[in-house]
Amino acid sequence: RIHPIILCGGSGTRLWPRSRAERPKPFLPLLGASSLFEQTLARCAGEGFAAPLVVAGERHVPLVEAQGSPGMRLAVEPAARNTAPAIAIAANLLPGEAIMLVCPSDHHIADPDAFRRAVASAAALAASGRLVAFGIAPDRPETGYGYIERGAAIESGFEVARFVEKPDAETASAFLAAGGFDWNGGIFAFRADTFRRELAEHRPEMAQGVADAVSRGTWEGTRFHPDAASFGRVESESIDYAVMENTRCAALVPVAMGWSDIGSWSALRDARQAQDGEGQGNVARGPVELVDCRNVMVDSDGPRVSCIGLDDVIVVVDGEEVLVTSAAGAQGVGKLTGARSQ
Ligand code: GDD
Ligand code: MG
Repeated sequence: RIHPIILCGGSGTRLWPRSRAERPKPFLPLLGASSLFEQTLARCAGEGFAAPLVVAGERHVPLVEAQGSPGMRLAVEPAARNTAPAIAIAANLLPGEAIMLVCPSDHHIADPDAFRRAVASAAALAASGRLVAFGIAPDRPETGYGYIERGAAIESGFEVARFVEKPDAETASAFLAAGGFDWNGGIFAFRADTFRRELAEHRPEMAQGVADAVSRGTWEGTRFHPDAASFGRVESESIDYAVMENTRCAALVPVAMGWSDIGSWSALRDARQAQDGEGQGNVARGPVELVDCRNVMVDSDGPRVSCIGLDDVIVVVDGEEVLVTSAAGAQGVGKLTGARSQ
């Protein structure tokens, strides 16, 4: 069976003011009635899946437990050390042959059946000792993603010729022009022992530090607390830089599943357009009137918002805060004083 490992971390200021420090992005019902976290759990449940293991920071515990699913276990990080140590906690809690499916808790996948088919392909490759990444067809030179160059075709996927995390704009454009590159979807499948071995090879101190933190950790019901002193000494680094850029046993499973990491209000607008857009590409949530508008999204939790003659504009009302941005400007929301000072 496949063990879903759900990661909840990061600050996610780019969906301010709806996302706040005390109410972060994974736990909000941004698309449909349930949260991205609940949708992630639902995608990785049912036949073939073991109960999930969530790895989250202390401050997320109440939200994780409120929205969690039956049988869920939760590992609580004593400090934020990015994804490589977070995944290593899970890898040290599971038996070596367990197949881990590492999923971010804040992504949207429009076609869960396509996701599960890709997971089945990835699990077969993972069983044979591969670190499997999921490839998304790129459509712009985005610098916030990892890029994976396809190598030779192998059963149900591809070899990875190279993995480049967050290239600069020039490199990303060159990759796009060259072709043969996929975006890394941030979802991974591997055996627990494969990950432990590769981490020990490429980041030996991190591997040892997390192994110590887990062996000295304690269970409290379904909650696991790694030893804070050992974990605190571990270096902070993502799986992408620590392992995926360095390993020689990566594999790629390309998948078209309507993936979005909802990295900005404009990405959320696009996902909502596809799901429940009205005419002219407009999307409205709350009491909203749009006249002669195109590609406008308004999301209000209270006050009525009325707009005339706007194109490609996003308005978000949340309590006392109002955000108005062009779709292009939405990338910069994290820089606003309101988003930074929460
Ligand atoms: N538990 C835990 N602890 N989770 C964490 C931590 C941590 O310290 N840091 C990040 N996470 C979670 C985030 O909440 C998110 O769900 C996931 O791990 C990925 O972290 P991000 O910080 O969002 O990574 P990124 O978006 O910069 O880059 C990754 O995702 C891209 C696709 O969205 C990389 O894997 C890229 O290569 C990839 O293209
Ligand atoms: Mg992300």
